[in-house]
Amino acid sequence: MESSLFSPITFGKVTLKNRIAMSPMCMYSSHTEDGVVAPFHLAHYESRAAGQAGLIMIEATAILPEGRISPQDLGIWSDDHVSGLQQINEGIHRHGARSAIQLGHAGRKAILDEDIYAPSPIPFKEDMETPNEMTTSDIKRTIQAFKEAARRSKEAHFDIIELHGAHGYLISQFLSPLTNKRTDEYGGDRASRFRFLEEVIEEVKTTWDGPIFVRISANEHDVNGNQMEDFLYYAERMKVLGVELIDCSSGGVVPVRPEVYPGYQLQYADQIRNQADIATGAVGMITSGLQAEEAIRNKRADLIFVARAMLRNPYWPKAAADELGVELEGPEQYKRGWL
Ligand code: FNR
Repeated sequence: MESSLFSPITFGKVTLKNRIAMSPMCMYSSHTEDGVVAPFHLAHYESRAAGQAGLIMIEATAILPEGRISPQDLGIWSDDHVSGLQQINEGIHRHGARSAIQLGHAGRKAILDEDIYAPSPIPFKEDMETPNEMTTSDIKRTIQAFKEAARRSKEAHFDIIELHGAHGYLISQFLSPLTNKRTDEYGGDRASRFRFLEEVIEEVKTTWDGPIFVRISANEHDVNGNQMEDFLYYAERMKVLGVELIDCSSGGVVPVRPEVYPGYQLQYADQIRNQADIATGAVGMITSGLQAEEAIRNKRADLIFVARAMLRNPYWPKAAADELGVELEGPEQYKRGWL
């Protein structure tokens, strides 16, 4: 059988050898608490590239110190972060994979011993810190920090940037009416709630000419939150701004934990892809080659992001290829075991 999962795809000047992406996963392993890459990260990401994923997306990486989820997050707020990130990329590129970085800011979900910031002064949970309401100058400074992070991403040789607009972190907090109660130009109707992300994309583009992906939470699990028609509107806006792919996750905006099941978020990738006519990534309990092949072949998504299954098995693409009867070239060094 011809495999769609193992067919290449091109975004701008970047071609991925297959449709399998390692989904971004925070490893909380920058133990010096200065956001710097540790030896763990080098082994962790290179081994998944040796495992033949077409795209390795590194974890949510903080664009400002106050935007970390925890003190152990990776950072990209300083030029001192570039050389470690460059080393991660060397390891990834050695195996023919392409690399992406997820640029993030935790907003009100930061758990740090310092002041935290959000569009509105509402804590995520009662026992969590109340964030400072961002002033216009805080907003402008944060947008500039995304731009500087994009410049450093280029210097560190990433192929793709993903903006983390999901899971109730800062960009998501601006998008959602549940967390954005502002009365200035950054809050109100959905066009105004989109303004922060729009300005981030515009500023990133002044220094970054590669593909831009955006991860969103396409279901906020609240009747007063954004609904699919809002996400279709955001997707249309992002398409016009030149975003190449919407990575469709869900949840994290408010503290509810809905039930998960195989392919539980695939419907969002499908709807946005086929109604807004933009490439999408599907993620969430996609654990077998057949399941991933089905989603690509039936044009429900363009990339399959695999998270926990790739923690269990760095060679997940090899297992998927075996299931589909596809022969992988694999790393030269492993040939005697793989063929
Ligand atoms: C995650 N996830 C996640 N998502 C994201 O956008 N940025 C991140 O940094 C993280 N960090 C993270 C850490 C760990 C340990 C896990 C398990 C998950 C979510 C992840 O990318 C993915 O969307 C979900 O795990 C669902 O996919 P799977 O695990 O069912 O394939």
